[in-house]
Amino acid sequence: MPLPPADRVRIHTLDLTQPPRGDLLPSSDLRRAEQRGARWASARAGLRRVLADYLEEDPAALRFHETGKPRLEPVSPLRFNLSHSADVALIAVATEREVGVDVEKIDHRRDVDRLAKRMFLGAEQAAVEEADDPVLAYHRHWVAKEAFAKATGKGLASMRSFEVSLDGPEGPRLVHVANDEREARRWSLSLIDDVPAGYVAALAHEA
Ligand SMILES: CC(C)(COP(=O)(O)OP(=O)(O)OC[C@H]1O[C@@H](n2cnc3c(N)ncnc32)[C@H](O)[C@@H]1OP(=O)(O)O)[C@@H](O)C(=O)NCCC(=O)NCCS
Repeated sequence: MPLPPADRVRIHTLDLTQPPRGDLLPSSDLRRAEQRGARWASARAGLRRVLADYLEEDPAALRFHETGKPRLEPVSPLRFNLSHSADVALIAVATEREVGVDVEKIDHRRDVDRLAKRMFLGAEQAAVEEADDPVLAYHRHWVAKEAFAKATGKGLASMRSFEVSLDGPEGPRLVHVANDEREARRWSLSLIDDVPAGYVAALAHEA
C-alpha cells in the first residue's frame, strides 16, 4: 500500500478481542506477550501487519527502536503511533511528520474532578467542571492531551506543559506549548469520531 500522501494521516482500528495471527509476531514479541497478555499481542500483531502493508515487508521482520516513542529501525519516512484501551486499538500513520493518537474507554467510575485538577491546566479543568457531562468532557480532554503528548514523545510527564481547547469557535486546537503560541500553531488536533460506542479518541499531528 502506498504511504499516506503528505497531507493525510490514516487511522487504522483494531478489534483486540480477535486473537493475533502468530506468524505476525517474532519470538521476542511472543515472549513479551506472556507478560503483557493477549490484547497486547493482538495490538502488536495488528501494528506489524499495518506497517508491513505500507512498507511491503514481512511483519515479523520489522524492527522498532523502543526507547521513548517507538520508531521504525532503520529510520523510515513512515511515522506511526499506537494506542490501546480495553478491546480497541488505533494506529495513526503518516509520512514524514510526527503523529500521536490516543483512545480511551470511558470509565464512569473515575473521579474526574480530582484527575482534572492533577493533570490539566486551569482552563481545561474549568471546561470539565462546567460541562453538562463532566465524565465525557474529562475523557475528551484526556485523549486530546495524551495524543499531543504522544506526538511529541514526551508522554504523561508533559501533560501540564501545554493547553488544549476543544469547544471554541475554531474547534479542537493547541492553545500554547510551554506558553509558546507559535509552536502550538505547528500542530493539528482533532477528535476521532469513528470509534466504537463507549470510547473516545483523538489525533495530534504536525500541521
Ligand atoms: C507513552 C504513554 C503516554 C502511553 O500511555 P498509555 O495510556 O499507557 O498507552 P496508549 O495505549 O495510549 O499507548 C501505548 C503505546 O504508545 C507507544 N508509546 C510508548 N512510549 C511512547 C512515547 N514516549 N511517545 C509516544 N508513544 C509511545 C507504544 O506503541 C505503546 O504501545 P505498547 O504499550 O503496546 O508498547 C505513557 O506510558 C508515558 O507517558 N510513558 C512514559 C513517557 C516516556 O517514555 N518518556 C520518555 C521521555 S524522553
